[in-house]
Amino acid sequence: MNDKKFYITTPIYYPSGKLHIGHSYTTVAADVMARYKRLQGYDVMFLTGTDEHGQKIEDKAREAGVTPQEFVDNIVAAPGGVLDLWKLMNISYDRFIRTTDAYHVESIQKIFKQMYDNGDIYKGSYKGKYCKPCESFWTESQLVDGKCPDCGREVMDAEEEAYFFRASKYADRVRDLLLNTDFLEPKSRVHEMVNNFIDCEGGLQDLCVSRTSFTWGVPVDFDPGHVVYVWLDALFNYMTALGYQNDQYHDLEKFWPADAHFVGKEIVRFHAIYWPAFLMSMDLPLPKKLYGHGWLNFNGDKMSKSKGNVVDPHLLSQRYGVDALRFFLLRSFPFGSDGNFTNELLIQTINNDLANDLGNLVSRTTAMAEKYFGGKLPEARQANPELDDSLISLAAGLRARYEDHMEKFQFQNALEEIFKVIQRANKYIDENAPWALAKDMEANGPRLAAVLYNLLESVRVCTVLLTPFIPDSCGKIFAQIGADENARTWDSAEQWGLLPGNICVTKGENLFPRIDMAKELSELDAIMEEAKKAALPELEVEPFIEEHVDFDTFCKSDFRAVKVKACENVRKSDKLLKFTLDDGTGTDRQILSGIAMYYKPEELVGKTLVAIVNLPPRKMMGRESQGMLISAVHTEKGEEVLHLLMVDDTIPAGAKLC
Ligand code: MSP
Repeated sequence: MNDKKFYITTPIYYPSGKLHIGHSYTTVAADVMARYKRLQGYDVMFLTGTDEHGQKIEDKAREAGVTPQEFVDNIVAAPGGVLDLWKLMNISYDRFIRTTDAYHVESIQKIFKQMYDNGDIYKGSYKGKYCKPCESFWTESQLVDGKCPDCGREVMDAEEEAYFFRASKYADRVRDLLLNTDFLEPKSRVHEMVNNFIDCEGGLQDLCVSRTSFTWGVPVDFDPGHVVYVWLDALFNYMTALGYQNDQYHDLEKFWPADAHFVGKEIVRFHAIYWPAFLMSMDLPLPKKLYGHGWLNFNGDKMSKSKGNVVDPHLLSQRYGVDALRFFLLRSFPFGSDGNFTNELLIQTINNDLANDLGNLVSRTTAMAEKYFGGKLPEARQANPELDDSLISLAAGLRARYEDHMEKFQFQNALEEIFKVIQRANKYIDENAPWALAKDMEANGPRLAAVLYNLLESVRVCTVLLTPFIPDSCGKIFAQIGADENARTWDSAEQWGLLPGNICVTKGENLFPRIDMAKELSELDAIMEEAKKAALPELEVEPFIEEHVDFDTFCKSDFRAVKVKACENVRKSDKLLKFTLDDGTGTDRQILSGIAMYYKPEELVGKTLVAIVNLPPRKMMGRESQGMLISAVHTEKGEEVLHLLMVDDTIPAGAKLC
């Protein structure tokens, strides 16, 4: 039996809209960790899922005209939904929980009742500020500039009969957990939690854990009308998914307490304070580690699909490949800090690290093995310690340095160590100039074989350790360098010289093609523009003018039917058409109109239009305009569209409109 076990979780996602690349951040990181632990030989449980209750979902379902269950089913399981996204991102979760799963609902009801029975949940009345999108209640003092401290949006007054959880009772134990253990990381988040929520004015407040203002939640079975607060419902997913208080699963003993909960910084509060307090109330062991990672912003702004940002994981992975995307997320930003996602940085990272460094090393090495030895390296190899040792010792010591960072969830540093070896190996190619050695194969064959073998071994060790990050690409690299199962293991990453002497190397496809930055950015800009347009309302009508105009004033405007005798473009103007009009007076009237984008002059000749004829004449591009043609105006996909008002041709020129 394997006694090395590892239980890791992501937050469970709100299926309230489409997920963007920022949402993938926690899950990709947890996936890398799960794969890394499996590589080390651990029996891993990797849990993710969806958090499906709450007012926000109920409201959105109503807007969409479906039941809340239909609404969430559609986002979770439908094509393009959450499950699809995790498949796309190659997320190797072992279990997926939905908080609407019957077993979870049953467990939550039992947990709520037990906390009520042990006196930690009591009935009271809630008066406070409520942030609807975050489904969070706040006290006045917690608001920032009168707004929700999490999302910055407006809060509303709320009062209702509710159940409360005696969080205050656990304040000392939670403070102790945060200050005197390594439970919460990075450390920088600890003081924020303690100062803002425990050692704040009034101390840790009891938490409102039921709602009566909506129904889409786990019903409190002993008090109809109340549903369990989403956060209590959601947090316990980490245990119900193992079988806590249900018969669906039986993995609690094996995997609880969790080894790591990964969460974004804005939900650290729930996980660092209330979650341990809930567990203390139920007398349950606490998770070993909570890691609050930073946020990915987009061009310095909050990421959101609705802004037309190019942050759709489907689009990005189609253009660059899933591995490139996974790699970018963890290579470009320290996990604990905020990062600024830009398309430039993404392309730069792919070009520098994957195309230039890794891709080049693999393709040069395999190409030379094919070219000089037909893909089969000879057993006779001639070492040269002076030239070889620094590469070999750097590569052979890599696993230990990598492990050190991975254990602390410092993914960026772990990757940095790998890329130091890759860069060193590329330099080793230049130092040894295999192409020069190849000029005299008889004399230099064994030395050339040694150079290529050392390169292949460097590639192999790096690839073993890159596997959790870019699993598909690593599979392809292993195949190209002829690494069998033995040469792909965790142990093998510490053993230099594991590739068998008779390996068969084949230069395969170029794994990471270089991207033309300028061309790519302009294509992305075009996509962004399109997305922005698509997000605009189809048709928009000018707002109506509320102020009344008196009848006499209105009658002062002289509208007439006019017939187009001639029409032409005005020279040097993209916009203006010059009309010669019959207005019934016997004298031609000239009007200029900025309508050239919508009509060709010839198609207007003979038409009967409407003009206001008593505006003072004015000059446009040096020509006099004696009035204005009337158009209908609306906005279509953000662009103004004009239609000249045309009336029945039987209406004579000069007829007055009134
Ligand atoms: N349902 C809650 C979690 C309950 S866990 C018991 C929730 N869901 S969420 O869908 O809003 O967020 C899921 C995860 O995505 C969170 O860890 C959140 O921090 C993360 N991210 C969402 N946008 C993000 C970025 N732009 N950048 C990085 N991660 C962010 O919260």
